[in-house]
Amino acid sequence: MKVETIAAVPGEHNLHNYEDVSSDFNWADVEKEFSWSATGKVNMAYEAIDRHAESDRKNKVALYYKDANRHEAYTFYEMKRMTNRAANVMKAHSDLEKGDRAFIFMPRSPELYFAMFGALKMGLIVGPLFEAFMEGAIYDRLDDSDAKAIITTPELLPRIPVDRLPNLKTVFIVGEGVEEDNRMVDFMKHLEGASDKFEMEWLDKEDGLVLHYTSGSTGKPKGVLHAQYAMVQQLQTAKWVLDLKEQDIYWCTADPGWVTGTAYGVFAPWLSGTTTVILGGRFSPDAWYKAIEDFGVTVWYSAPTAFRMLMGAGDALVKEYDLSTLRHVLSVGEPLNPEVVRWGVQVFGKRIHDTWWMTETGAQTICNYPSMDIKPGSMGKPVPGIKVAIVDDQGNELPPNQMGNLAIEKGWPSMMRQIWNNPAKYESYFMNDKWYVSGDSAYMDEEGYFWFQGRVDDVIMTSGERVGPFEVESKLLEHPAVAEAGVIGKPDPVRGEVIKAFVALNEGYEPSEELVQDIQQFVKKGLAAHAAPKEIEFKDKLPKTRSGKIMRRVLKAWELDLPTGDLSTMED
Ligand code: WTA
Repeated sequence: MKVETIAAVPGEHNLHNYEDVSSDFNWADVEKEFSWSATGKVNMAYEAIDRHAESDRKNKVALYYKDANRHEAYTFYEMKRMTNRAANVMKAHSDLEKGDRAFIFMPRSPELYFAMFGALKMGLIVGPLFEAFMEGAIYDRLDDSDAKAIITTPELLPRIPVDRLPNLKTVFIVGEGVEEDNRMVDFMKHLEGASDKFEMEWLDKEDGLVLHYTSGSTGKPKGVLHAQYAMVQQLQTAKWVLDLKEQDIYWCTADPGWVTGTAYGVFAPWLSGTTTVILGGRFSPDAWYKAIEDFGVTVWYSAPTAFRMLMGAGDALVKEYDLSTLRHVLSVGEPLNPEVVRWGVQVFGKRIHDTWWMTETGAQTICNYPSMDIKPGSMGKPVPGIKVAIVDDQGNELPPNQMGNLAIEKGWPSMMRQIWNNPAKYESYFMNDKWYVSGDSAYMDEEGYFWFQGRVDDVIMTSGERVGPFEVESKLLEHPAVAEAGVIGKPDPVRGEVIKAFVALNEGYEPSEELVQDIQQFVKKGLAAHAAPKEIEFKDKLPKTRSGKIMRRVLKAWELDLPTGDLSTMED
């Protein structure tokens, strides 16, 4: 069968010839682009903001922000001042010290980024949270990381179980009508009068940067810690993959609660001094196309679910907006269907470039580069300087076209440095002290293109968000009616997968539509809206191993009408 390809775009791209670069590239050369390679003093906030504020880019717009009520622009110089002020507020009203964990739990706004980079200037490790999180999810993350502070809004404050978190000493509240006490601090009130000057905390390149909690197939979400050094790969991929140039207007649609929203929402573009758009509010096809037109977006990074929803909104809508500024479009988070790639060419006249990476990889790892032919359905080729391979369960490299574990040779620049509080979990990712094993299965073709096949474990990908079935099952079991619960991802044309729960009820409960809704609400309120099962099916009993583990594989086979495979470990 002939594989479809869409030819490279002619033009002056930052990566001219993938094959040439990939053979003799050295990461140490990228370090030279940072001031710390000479001074030894590192801080992401300096490299992303202050450095530009002290250069010709001083009056260049760093951040365009827009939502239903606000439409604002901040230059790099203004970002430097506002983040200094934020740092001063946090310093004056807390005992926070370098290395402490400070979480950010608020809707997108310019203040979110003032606070995030203010915290980085103090040398704190920033833990971004999705706005959708409810009390249980917040508690787990703050408790596990022993968080000392959180930045939130009056609306979200009730979801933070302050009384159960004795070490959470300071809560900065961004909004109106804040009643201060020895824990609660009115962020906006103090920001107003704070000094524009701040002595930044200088760090080592291996010091912590961000802590992103993410789901696995077992256990609670784990805290993936990245080091300041991740900026090396983030800057280089901004150049090669995002293809950012001085005049670009860049828009990454990801929420900062997700690694994409930090690494490529702000770090990568600002490390390269690029004007960046942040859009607040909820997804709507009109608002999104309008944002491209309003800001004249040239480089656009989004996700398959969003592209599929835009596709569903119809091609006529696209014609109502002027999207002619777009020159480079990218996607991440889930498999990008060939159909969507073709649609992109048809309606935007642009190829959508798929990129593959994970929270744990800290930056883009396998990509389609603008100078490369795209094979729709393929994730592309490894970032030069990073070795990616398909390995079997013993860690042996497999030849082309054989499916196996997608693995990365240990030691790439932006690799996670720790699973917080859980060294054993961290070690469990690595095989033979050589390979980081991703949990994805894939194969590589003869030309070195990688093709995603699925997850090896049971992790669910719904609208690009990683949901651990165990976390949802645990929450379901807290509902009084639920005796047993098994959760799987069910294929869905728009969202990739939706969450489906199989539930066995306790004595005295009967299946009903009300009960389904009640259970859905329960998970929504306790965990997060995106973690609530879209479908619930009641069963008398669930398939379990003799040791009592729910066999999700069997549930999946039931759902998809597939053979259930080996059932020898199943209880009678
Ligand atoms: C999946 C996302 C197919 C994959 C930055 C991976 C993808 C997980 C792609 C990581 C892609 C990400 N094609 N699958 N281009 N990109 N994935 O940590 O299963 O939220 O392991 O980070 O998303 O999800 P995470």
